[in-house]
Amino acid sequence: YDRQDQRLPKQRLLVVANRLPVSAVRQGKDSWQLEISVGGLVSALLGLKEFDARWIGWAGVNVPDETGQEALTKALAEKKCIPVFLDEDTVHQYYNGYCNNIIWPLFHYLGLPQEDRLSTTRSFQSQFDAYKKANQMFANVVNENYEEGDVVWCHDYHLMFLPKCLKEKNSNIKVGWFLHTPFPSSEIHRMLPSRRDLLESVLAADLVGFHTYDYARHFVSACTRILGLEGTPEGVENQGKLTRVAAFPIGIDSDRFIRALELPQVQDHIKELKERFAGRKVMLGVDRLDMIKGIPQKILAFEEFLEENPEWRDKVVLLQIAVPTRTDVPEYQKLSSQVHEIVGRINGRFGTLTAVPIHHLDRSLDFHALCALYAVTDVALITSLRDGMNLVSYEFVACQASKKGVLILSEFAGAAQSLGAGALLVNPWNIAEVAASISQALNMPADEREKMHQHNFMHVTTHTSQEWAATFVSELNDTIIEAQLRTRQVPLLPV
Ligand code: G6P
Repeated sequence: YDRQDQRLPKQRLLVVANRLPVSAVRQGKDSWQLEISVGGLVSALLGLKEFDARWIGWAGVNVPDETGQEALTKALAEKKCIPVFLDEDTVHQYYNGYCNNIIWPLFHYLGLPQEDRLSTTRSFQSQFDAYKKANQMFANVVNENYEEGDVVWCHDYHLMFLPKCLKEKNSNIKVGWFLHTPFPSSEIHRMLPSRRDLLESVLAADLVGFHTYDYARHFVSACTRILGLEGTPEGVENQGKLTRVAAFPIGIDSDRFIRALELPQVQDHIKELKERFAGRKVMLGVDRLDMIKGIPQKILAFEEFLEENPEWRDKVVLLQIAVPTRTDVPEYQKLSSQVHEIVGRINGRFGTLTAVPIHHLDRSLDFHALCALYAVTDVALITSLRDGMNLVSYEFVACQASKKGVLILSEFAGAAQSLGAGALLVNPWNIAEVAASISQALNMPADEREKMHQHNFMHVTTHTSQEWAATFVSELNDTIIEAQLRTRQVPLLPV
């Protein structure tokens, strides 16, 4: 199969993720307004010109009536998207419950919910049942749309049960699974009551991918220690079948950011921001308002910096964009109040009649405003307690060709392994260390900043999201061919 040959039909790729890259708002009984959200995964797939990709996922809305479902399915088809309809109870138990209250915190080393052990254990089982049921619903939609030769690429912790559901129905289906979060140490993973089921299901895939070698190594040791299987340099052996396990660090569409900086509206925005913050250094944080992002720790470190460096108090501002997320989960509601309280206290303490040290925004910014903000930033402050990769650090670097600002980056973000040499790495739990890094970053000589920036810029512009997706899918195709050769389903020489 030669993908470069334009005369051959493109290989079909079914991308399955919990969320479609489109948000749907109902306008009338059978009309929908759709808005595309261009994140890392979407831009990666837009760059995969040699594949005919379609997307299967939840549209993020409850559509109980058949007419509405039919209309939405039709509207989404134009965007090459296929919806999975989940009812409210399933969303509550599967998405808010098992995905975001159990797997998400555990995979980020924040433990399991502990408030009431007995009720947690009981609801744990019903949430796991809902998780399996939801995964089966995704599998049904894949099966309805599958054509022989398609490659199915499953994404993230929401769909760990999907590879098994797909292979049970059709053992020839080509399945890859990629995790966008960290995969924790096997000692953490073994806390999950459903630890075996999830590992066994993921192993049904032909290729399993992670952002870093550490996550891949943790997965393999979870399979050896919890399932008693054999780990090999290629992956995990299970009853004669090899599941390939490897690291595929994601990137961004860096050109999209670099090109945006040339646009007149972005240039105007940059000018406004420069005027607005004239005479002050700009520090920036951009995070979903999630406990893994370490926002309270970051703000406390900024407070400590202001306390110890009074000469900087009216010369620096921290802009913290905190995008609301998963607002139905109580832990996220608590975090929001906690952050507001700390910001209020610090602004009360160090603010003056004309300026406050922290601008905290509870909302997302549009793409052009975000690019302008990245471009005027002197120091980006990323203090995730754990983070699969963290692409904000990549986006910041892509927009810094003229400013060459400093990146302060948590050593617990996957990005620390790729951008570490061009960043000030910090332990976000060590508030004094982060405060000292802020001081170091603000005082860093230009030649040192330039050297660090060059290192990162080179990495970000060469390890793009398109390259990531192309590598994963081609490795998946190769893995399958190798497996067929091993079991001699494919002749070694042309006959
Ligand atoms: C993380 C996950 C994604 C998820 C995103 C936003 O990056 O890895 O799978 O889509 O957060 O979270 P949400 O719950 O709003 O989809």
